[in-house]
Amino acid sequence: MKEKFYVTTPIYYPNDVPHIGHAYTTIAADIIARWNKLQGKEVFFLTGTDDHGKKIANAAKKAGKTPKQFTDDLIPEFKSAWKKLNIDYDKFIRTTDTDHQKVVQKVLQKCFDKGDIYKGEYEGLYCTECEAYYTEKDLEDGCCPIHKKPIENLKEETYFFKLSNYQDKLLKFYEENPNFISPKHRKQEIINRVKEGLRDLSISRTSFDWGVPLPFDKSHVAYVWFDALFNYYSATQKKDKKKFWPTDLHIIGKDIFWFHTVYWPAFLMSAGIKLPKQVFAHGWWTFNKEKISKSRGKVIGIDELIKIAGVDSARYFLFREASFGEDGDFSRKSLIDRHNNELADKLGNLVSRVSGLIEKSGCEESKKWKLPRITSEGEGYVNKYIKNLELHKALNAIFIYIDATNKWIQEKKPWGIKNESEKKAVLYNLKREILKLSKLLSPFIPDTAEKIQKIFKTNKIKKAPILFQKIETQKPNKHLNQTISKESEARENLGFLGKQIPNKTMENVSTIQFEDFTKLDLRVAQIENAENIEGADKLYKLSLDVGELGKRTICAGIKEFYKADDLKGKKIIIIANLAPRKLRGIESQGMLLAASSKEGSPESCPSRAKKTLSLISPDQDIASGSTVG
Ligand code: MSP
Repeated sequence: MKEKFYVTTPIYYPNDVPHIGHAYTTIAADIIARWNKLQGKEVFFLTGTDDHGKKIANAAKKAGKTPKQFTDDLIPEFKSAWKKLNIDYDKFIRTTDTDHQKVVQKVLQKCFDKGDIYKGEYEGLYCTECEAYYTEKDLEDGCCPIHKKPIENLKEETYFFKLSNYQDKLLKFYEENPNFISPKHRKQEIINRVKEGLRDLSISRTSFDWGVPLPFDKSHVAYVWFDALFNYYSATQKKDKKKFWPTDLHIIGKDIFWFHTVYWPAFLMSAGIKLPKQVFAHGWWTFNKEKISKSRGKVIGIDELIKIAGVDSARYFLFREASFGEDGDFSRKSLIDRHNNELADKLGNLVSRVSGLIEKSGCEESKKWKLPRITSEGEGYVNKYIKNLELHKALNAIFIYIDATNKWIQEKKPWGIKNESEKKAVLYNLKREILKLSKLLSPFIPDTAEKIQKIFKTNKIKKAPILFQKIETQKPNKHLNQTISKESEARENLGFLGKQIPNKTMENVSTIQFEDFTKLDLRVAQIENAENIEGADKLYKLSLDVGELGKRTICAGIKEFYKADDLKGKKIIIIANLAPRKLRGIESQGMLLAASSKEGSPESCPSRAKKTLSLISPDQDIASGSTVG
């Protein structure tokens, strides 16, 4: 029998269409579900909507609809969003489903019979946006700490759940199940709050009727969170789904951690139901550094997200950009940068290059030409990271192996191998690596992974069509350019006089992270020869010795500044891991570093300034191939 794996998303409030925040959690669960399937497990992946409660009742009223009609109209929005994002869920639950409501009533009765539910009166603070109770000390300037909106003072007859009974039981449970609250860094805060003491929880309302009636007092409806949390359980109560309980993993946002790590296990303990294995809270996305808010236009919808660079690039970006468990900031520019620089330049190029070479020369497995298995070691890491829910690390590791594969091609130069069977063996190995990489990538970017597999899993491999079309990033407009150059000129002039003006243009510079810099492989290289290239008046063809990286050819536009003879023997710095480019029919395998400036008197006549260029060289003799950084 297959091992089972049950993963859930929160059930979302259908009071509006879903946005990037909801998509994030749902894609995360999808990635994890797909990965577990790859491990041979029988997976049940649940998502859905939280239809009841005051928040929905209010939104429906505003829209002039009944709550049922209102939510019915929004459900297709969620389903189509998940379809567009390639979310392969198994069940979509709604709390208005009759089966679910019956289960909620059954467990309420169980808790009641056990003596954990008693009647009383609630007087206190309530935020309808959160559907949560607050105390004075939680508030910020008298407002809800999350929504910053005035809070309601509630006074009504209610049934309480004896949460106070569960303080010790919960603490013991956390201790015995150290993975239940994750990630680890969010754990202590919950434990500390539980240690401070738990007050009994109001679990019913009488002031509206949009909810599940209490089986022992029909004039009350169940508190929306009691109703909602049990969706995870009720979805498994059909005969063929029973085996999936308890949940292996609840993926949620950090905003609803308390409900899932305190109320939820306490309700289950009371009802005598087995507890879930793990609740994982991820961080929150901001949009251009601001809180996502529909009313302030700081929101990005599903269609908008997909339109930027396609579904797979969006899925990839969300899990590459932010560490899973931490907050992240979304911007169009960073998505496009990752699409261009990583998916198009690294993955896309690899696939296109290797498929093109195989189309020309074929490929063949051969025992004689034993070549490294680049991703074998990587596979273990990637799987370990996904298992630990370090999704960002998994993607990072996959790209390290993509880089390594590209580098290996660069070194092995299969196009130049004279021996046919060696060439075919090299290409076979590359095909094998790419297929492995595509499998590792498949939970994250399923469509692309499938395309890659189709390209290579055939007897007649053809050069692949472009997988990721590069997207031009918006150029700063003309006006901005002029502003920049005027300002920098002004700074230059004032600099002459020894004065400083603040660097106002920094915000227009696209900054990179340290991690980006470390991707550059900078090396010392010795120029062995410099030759003219026919028809190119600015370029030299340089033959270089790069020590352990071997010999390289690069084309450099330095002819107007250096005589060929003066270059011979010079040690320079090159970027050694730049994808090769053809210039005037010559493959340039890197780029050299040089400083350039305009000399003359820019104050009086900037257009007459003359450009000077100087190669960057190590200031002492150092071996070719030495690293720079
Ligand atoms: N209905 C409750 C959940 C009940 S689960 C038994 C609810 N719904 S919600 O529609 O408000 O969805 C909240 C969830 O949406 C968050 O926990 C998170 O998963 C996701 N996100 C909403 N906005 C988000 C961001 N800005 N960033 C990341 N995820 C966010 O709460």
